[in-house]
Amino acid sequence: MKQLLIVWHSMTGGAGQLARAVADGARAGDEPVVVRLQPARATTADDVLAADGYVFVAPENLASMSGVMKDFFDRIYYPSLDRINGRPYACVVCAGSDGSGAVRQIQRIATGLRLKEAAPARIVITHAQTPEAILAIKSIDPAELDQCRDLGAAFGAGLASGIF
Ligand SMILES: Cc1cc2nc3c(=O)[nH]c(=O)nc-3n(C[C@H](O)[C@H](O)[C@H](O)COP(=O)(O)O)c2cc1C
Repeated sequence: MKQLLIVWHSMTGGAGQLARAVADGARAGDEPVVVRLQPARATTADDVLAADGYVFVAPENLASMSGVMKDFFDRIYYPSLDRINGRPYACVVCAGSDGSGAVRQIQRIATGLRLKEAAPARIVITHAQTPEAILAIKSIDPAELDQCRDLGAAFGAGLASGIF
């Protein structure tokens, strides 16, 4: 069975909810697929090599992906290089107001790894603007969670059926 690896990091809970929604969607899909939902900190190059496709879910912090997510890519990049060429990926970024910097970084790294973008990048905006709101635990809009479930279902189906 094909394996979908969802690698995520979250500081205030938003990206965590999005990652779980992607996993729920993939698990509920018609096509059977093994879904691994892994915190970035605990994900190794062996996990990456063992998977057939990837969804990366991260917050945007200071116009970049979060440091913990970047650390994941730093650790797995060279051990994975030229060993995962052509595998499909998608990314979801949770941001207060922008998100484009984090998406750009993830896409550049994925291009370096010769991954294939299988779905458009999703940016979920939480509208947190003040320091208090930014540091508060997030509650993601149910409609956004639905979109992430749909992404997971479509990604899982594409992976299982071999259309990617
Ligand atoms: C240190 C820090 C820097 C941030 N920088 C940005 C930023 O550059 N652009 C943006 O849109 N949001 C920024 N945010 C807001 C977060 O992206 C937003 O709160 C999002 O919900 C974080 O996802 P999380 O809940 O999974 O941690 C920042 C938050 C923190 C804590």
